[in-house]
Amino acid sequence: MKVIVTKDYEEASQKAAEIMLDVIKNKPNANLGLATGSTPIRLYELMREDHKANGTSYKDIKSFNLDEYYGLAQDHPQSYYYFMCHQLFNELDIDKNNINVPKGKGSIEEVCDEYNALLAKNPRDIQLLGIGSNGHVGFNEPGTSFDSVTHYIALKQSTIEDNAKLFFNGDLSAVPTHAITMGISNIMEAKKVLLIATGERKAKAVKGLVEGPVTEDLPASILQKHEDAIIIVDEAAASLLS
Ligand code: F6R
Repeated sequence: MKVIVTKDYEEASQKAAEIMLDVIKNKPNANLGLATGSTPIRLYELMREDHKANGTSYKDIKSFNLDEYYGLAQDHPQSYYYFMCHQLFNELDIDKNNINVPKGKGSIEEVCDEYNALLAKNPRDIQLLGIGSNGHVGFNEPGTSFDSVTHYIALKQSTIEDNAKLFFNGDLSAVPTHAITMGISNIMEAKKVLLIATGERKAKAVKGLVEGPVTEDLPASILQKHEDAIIIVDEAAASLLS
């Protein structure tokens, strides 16, 4: 596991963009595992700027997002599908048929089986991750098995509160209580993992991720066992590291 400490969010995003664009430029038909949340917003902006300025093409790129709220249709403004289109895809030349986000509607079993089959056919060259303040990756909350594949999960109250602040104007009652998420074993299959964590709110989770025991109580800690995991943290998120 390689840990890169940056001054702030901007520098963390710049460093992450360098790594992501390097993968894309070296393999124009790469499979990208992507994340939502507030953390990758600047990285996605940098990718859009690069596409505009340098013409980096996404026409043969396929994307696979980590998760989706259960109960929200793709065109719901708070869905992760909608988020990805507005933060990234709408300004790239990616083929809309190559955008994959777990479905937030329909039979849970079918949605999960379909996504697992898709992931099995399309190994990811890179998986981008944020981290929850409780150490979750994707929506794999503490206690999720390291052997898990795409599944339906009940969000912890702390996750619902974190997400309400960011996406639902603080309206707790509007945040879905369940999600469909890639499992830990799907995440670990990616050739390279790139996790970004910034801000003091993430410091405790980052300490567990980097220095703690590998335990299902802090799902991100499994990344200690990944062959090519890069963790980019700003000084605030790194503040508890020894
Ligand atoms: C998002 C996801 C989550 C977030 C995490 C951090 O697709 O899977 O694990 O990465 O909750 O969220 P932010 O970046 O909003 O702090």
